[in-house]
Amino acid sequence: MIFYKKEQQAFYLESKGVTYAFRVDGDGFLEHLYFGKSIGRDIPLPSDPAWDGTERAPSRSLNEVRLECPLYGRSDFRECMLALDFGGVRVADFRYEGHEIVPVKPTIQGMPSLRGGETLIISLRERVHNTVLKLFYTVFEDLPMLLRHAEITAGDDCKIDRAFSFSLDLPRGDYESITLVGAHMRERRIVRTPLSHGIFKADSKRGMSSAQTNPFLAVVKKNTDEERGDAYGFNLVYSGDFALVTQIEQNGELRVTGGLNDFDFSWELKKGETFATPEAVLVYSDRGLGGMSRAFHDGYRNYLIDQNRVFSARPIVINNWEATYFDFNTEKLCAIIDAARGTGIDTFVLDDGWFGVRRNDRAGLGDWTVNEDVVDLRKVIAHAHEAGMRFGLWFEPEMVNRDSNLYRAHPDWILHAEGMEPCMSRHQYVLDLTRKEVRDHIVEAVSNVLDSYPIDYVKWDMNRPLTENVSPSLGTRGKETHHRYILGLYNLFERVVKTHPNVFFEGCASGGCRFDAGILAYFPQIWTSDNTDAYARTFIQYGTSLCYPLSAMSCHVSAVPNHQCGRSESLRARGDIAHLGATGYELDLTKLSSSERQEISEQVKEYRAMSELIFRGDVYRLSDPESGLFAMEIISKDGKEAVITAMRSIYTVNEGPLRLFPKGLKDGEYEVNGVLMDKKTIEHYGLLPEFPFGDFATVTLKLKKR
Ligand code: DGJ
Repeated sequence: MIFYKKEQQAFYLESKGVTYAFRVDGDGFLEHLYFGKSIGRDIPLPSDPAWDGTERAPSRSLNEVRLECPLYGRSDFRECMLALDFGGVRVADFRYEGHEIVPVKPTIQGMPSLRGGETLIISLRERVHNTVLKLFYTVFEDLPMLLRHAEITAGDDCKIDRAFSFSLDLPRGDYESITLVGAHMRERRIVRTPLSHGIFKADSKRGMSSAQTNPFLAVVKKNTDEERGDAYGFNLVYSGDFALVTQIEQNGELRVTGGLNDFDFSWELKKGETFATPEAVLVYSDRGLGGMSRAFHDGYRNYLIDQNRVFSARPIVINNWEATYFDFNTEKLCAIIDAARGTGIDTFVLDDGWFGVRRNDRAGLGDWTVNEDVVDLRKVIAHAHEAGMRFGLWFEPEMVNRDSNLYRAHPDWILHAEGMEPCMSRHQYVLDLTRKEVRDHIVEAVSNVLDSYPIDYVKWDMNRPLTENVSPSLGTRGKETHHRYILGLYNLFERVVKTHPNVFFEGCASGGCRFDAGILAYFPQIWTSDNTDAYARTFIQYGTSLCYPLSAMSCHVSAVPNHQCGRSESLRARGDIAHLGATGYELDLTKLSSSERQEISEQVKEYRAMSELIFRGDVYRLSDPESGLFAMEIISKDGKEAVITAMRSIYTVNEGPLRLFPKGLKDGEYEVNGVLMDKKTIEHYGLLPEFPFGDFATVTLKLKKR
């Protein structure tokens, strides 16, 4: 609910269990009051005379005021939310003009966002340049979550040098930041850093949200753990360059702000034009990181991801990438399909290499016509259908090899700086999605394949970061390139994904290099990492779950020794970890024994039985893999069913029993793998999982309420 308390000129925004409050001060600035656990609408406030619109300097130093939309130049010296330049004048002075409360959140032009209800829109006006700034705030009755973004409509031509989505000032405290950092094949590892005076920044300049730093930041109190303490979570619904910044300045308070990365960014806004920032998702939890994660999961499952896909049975795929890489032909693919018969695997996905002259990663990318010398696509599809399976196909629409017909025909269609050899990465260039003709070509080329063959599933890949942040077509507006690229990407998704509602789309960027809420608005799941090793995946999936639901994580069982790190785990362990998401297989099934194939068919059955829990349940992270023991519990909303999956990394001889303490159970008794136990005993005495002998062994515990 959103309340406007007129006598205080104060706004009380109430999401489930949470209050967010600010007021209009006597100068017309928006002073932040509170964000945290739900409180009354009676914060004691000075009764300033209402802002009368008279042009005057701020009557107090803004550096000491908690601000909803801080700007540099009028006495606040901390990090600002927006920076505008009106022909060299970089001072903008926005004051409150009015507000409206609407029952349904307006969509953000050209950008993904959550479907939202009640929304407060504050209008501020910069009178010298007659420019209007709108701040949007959306609340949720069922979630401790809030959405924010801003829209600027220029009254005079200007340049936007920073366009962040939100800013928040929190009272003094012992804060720590939590970020999800890593690398290709080592994505989203949790890093916790004490915050002190100065600036802390998590950002990407790679043109993608990146494996190195995810667009997620949590700010927690020092004593916050998985289940206790204050946790503030911030995530951007955006897939490109971003920045999330914290600052502690002279008064010891903490500012958190973020949005589009302003490094190498600026945007020319002509008089009358509007610019929108990406949406920021803010969560507050007084139940630690676990409470914060569950709010993000519910928010994304219920309000971001396609409702027709998010909760329904996912394809259980067999993907040929790690089975064959580029070394395949029609017979090999059909043999893999044959080997999948009877396992319950229901979708065959043909990965990279079916098009153009693509026999390795040096050629053919961009030429989306079937290479008939390599594969008889109709035959493979018919074979999959005859085996009772659906058919999926790999694309990498945003890229081109130098050795391709597309590049030869349009060498200027890539991001590049005139006269300079563009950086190559994986032997490929980035197509310039800022250009309409390039996007039109991609839509036509991809749609042509999708409309000519009965394709049920698409894996949309993207295998390199953006370099040469230049689109020659933009002339002097080069600093708009990366953001325009992402707007172009979302435009492609609208025109390819949304126009093929019967095709299931999975996102991928060398695995998990673009795992973000922007992508999830179009793709219900994302290939979580190119690292398919089960032990490595415990870290990746554990970290990813801080912000993103398990149903968003595509997880495959692959061969041993693992192709990325040489480790070997049992088929059971690989299956147990891959079951903690949208599961699938990625190995040469023809090389497995019949007993291994039998084991896979049991795994698939087991997965189907637990998939409702995976898609709809609440996650409790019971033990961090950093400790040597990974454990994750997923419990149904009604508490009637739960599953716990644990992996012990290294087997230590003569070690005492490892104990797990499940959470979120309802009062009464549960059957734990068949043994009856009381909730209190389970929660306080704990469960003693019996791991199989050896390293990297897993256990699953099934709890059923009696
Ligand atoms: C990177 C993906 O993450 C892999 O799964 C595979 O599709 C390759 N690209 C193919 O080039």
